[in-house]
Amino acid sequence: MEQRIIEIGESFTKELNIVKNSKDLENIRIKFLGRNGLLSQLFEDFKSLPKEEKPKFGQTLNVLKNDLQNNFDIKLNEVSASEKSEKSFIDFTLPGKTKSKGSKHILIQTLDEIKNIFKGLGFSVATGPELESDYNNFEALNFPADHPARDMQDTFFVNPDFLLRTHTSPVQIRTMQKYAPPIRIIIPGKVYRNEAVSMKSYCLFHQVEGLYVDKDVTFAELKGTLVSFAKQLYGNDIQYRFRASFFPFTEPSAEMDIWWQPSGKEGRWLEILGCGMVDPNVLKNVGIDPEVYSGYAFGMGVERMAMRKYGINDIRNYFDNDKRFLEQF
Ligand code: DAH
Repeated sequence: MEQRIIEIGESFTKELNIVKNSKDLENIRIKFLGRNGLLSQLFEDFKSLPKEEKPKFGQTLNVLKNDLQNNFDIKLNEVSASEKSEKSFIDFTLPGKTKSKGSKHILIQTLDEIKNIFKGLGFSVATGPELESDYNNFEALNFPADHPARDMQDTFFVNPDFLLRTHTSPVQIRTMQKYAPPIRIIIPGKVYRNEAVSMKSYCLFHQVEGLYVDKDVTFAELKGTLVSFAKQLYGNDIQYRFRASFFPFTEPSAEMDIWWQPSGKEGRWLEILGCGMVDPNVLKNVGIDPEVYSGYAFGMGVERMAMRKYGINDIRNYFDNDKRFLEQF
């Protein structure tokens, strides 16, 4: 037994010294330290030694086992380190990896700004689905059955009863069906129109709707709110005007224009939103008594608001995802 212990130790050292790569090393591991390796066999034989000899050989065997394992580990580290450095030659002249920082799209920035201003004016934020019923999008909002906006030309119908909402106004209906007045909300979201894509129009854009329903709500309050909003967004010296207009769901209705002065070009009035007093028919449709309550509503296009604010002249810029455009904001 003693002789074999010495021999195994010696041949292990010898073989370990001429190891060239991890494959050689693995062979040594199997031969000496593996489950059926020489060391295991020694331990097997040890079991059948006479009782008196066990303490002495037991100790020697354990020393051998630790030695083999330690030397093996040292070699393993050496071999894997050198194999690694052979593989990973580092070219210090290559340019480094840069992480590009993400940022908010200009439309989201504008939406955030609009939301914050209205939150400051006491409005909370509501949302609704982009796939909407014909009832909520048109009928409950008092569109007559033959209104041109119902035509296939303007609306993406999914089937005769459902469509991609053409404005955020149907969320007025959803909210008033669910909650009793007082209601004071804004509704940001995407809307869809089946229009030819051009500088001025796109098949998809963003709106922010507003709705305030309570007792004794007046048109003067509506104007005050919108003027305060426009001044906060564009600055106190903004020029604005209200023009009488028509929407099926408001009576009376108006549009708000602001003066747009692109640098080096002639200025003009730019329509930014529609508004009005909620039509009594709409209140009736959602079960609110128009004799007791009144309300105002407004709806604005976010793309247009941002065009005026940042001097953007082509609506398609927002959606092309050209980084040269997006990075400017
Ligand atoms: N829904 C209208 C549109 O898409 C905008 C609008 C006008 C909304 C007047 C309103 C409103 O709430 O009172 O053109």
